[in-house]
Amino acid sequence: MNTVPAVNKSQDGPFTLATLMAVLFDPIEEILFLVLTPFNGAGDERFKFEIQTNDLTNSGYNVIQMCSGTNERNLIGKVKCKSGPCVGWVHSFTVTDNFVIVPEMPMKYHLESMLSGDLLQWHQDAKAFMHIVCKETGETVASVEVPQFMTFHFINAYEEKDEATSKPISVIVDCCEYNSSVAIMERILLQELRSFFGEDSLPDSRVGRFTVPLNGSPRETLDIVVPSKEHGRGIDMCNINPKYKGKEYRYAYGCAVECPCHFLNSLTKIDLKEKSVKKWYSEGSIPSEPFFIGHSGAKAEDDGVVISIVSDKDGHGFAIVLDGSTFTEVARAKLPYALPYDLKRRLKVFKEDVEVIVQNVKGIKDECIEHLERAVES
Ligand SMILES: [Fe+2]
Repeated sequence: MNTVPAVNKSQDGPFTLATLMAVLFDPIEEILFLVLTPFNGAGDERFKFEIQTNDLTNSGYNVIQMCSGTNERNLIGKVKCKSGPCVGWVHSFTVTDNFVIVPEMPMKYHLESMLSGDLLQWHQDAKAFMHIVCKETGETVASVEVPQFMTFHFINAYEEKDEATSKPISVIVDCCEYNSSVAIMERILLQELRSFFGEDSLPDSRVGRFTVPLNGSPRETLDIVVPSKEHGRGIDMCNINPKYKGKEYRYAYGCAVECPCHFLNSLTKIDLKEKSVKKWYSEGSIPSEPFFIGHSGAKAEDDGVVISIVSDKDGHGFAIVLDGSTFTEVARAKLPYALPYDLKRRLKVFKEDVEVIVQNVKGIKDECIEHLERAVES
């Protein structure tokens, strides 16, 4: 393990919550909710995509393409929800080379619930769907029924191609899935998070994989890619090597569970091919969503490092750097401040400090800083 000097607090802020600037927003139509992808996919940063929910009484979504670095938005397609009149909640989604994948869960926006203060409601009898939207034409090329699922975060998606024609024949969609149960929504309420008495109370989750056929088949199954017991019955907040976004991939890095616990309390590397995991755990610590940063000139998918910001049991924090291949600790740096839970916002505030950490770890080159900056901007 490398010894990294403690980093010093940046002198140029931000230190307040004062507004820095106004960003003009051209939504095309009035919108209620939107979800944004960081980029088009691996190696293509020309576009980002948005899924907009515009009207809770008109059950569907707008799929929007946005030119990176601009505020220009283009409506490329509309997707109709197929299960009842309420709009399914979308917390995240994925894209492949050719498609935007729009998930429709039984967790739905609900007007009556909103009036009583709850935004969402789980519809026990609702069906679930995956809608596949062609980026080029905006056409919904498949709306396939899948088993009920509950997810916050998709991991990745990619196309399977016909060997003879190279045309896509199905889309693989991976997510962190909570056993089709809404129990997690209760467990992440603040009063629940503050009450841990040593018993295991975090609902189980797993790496779920949808194989969505593009041949007109109306239904597909949800498979478990890696047995849940391997990563400790819980998994969420996954990231992958950004060069493999939208492509076939093998490794995912996420937050997992060391029991007993009531929150994600360890880091894991998942090998989706070998169906095995590696873990990092430090008692009493809460690690944030990990990010993979590739070595300059890397050939292997896992040739790089994984960074996570960790809150330790004493209320302090440190950045940890793990080897992307062996998942062993190569460096850690104590940070001179307590940290809230949320890596991306932490990275914005502590970007310079994290850069110092990265530059001090042997073998990390400028390219890694670029990846880090991209993570901060997304
Ligand atoms: Fe999220």
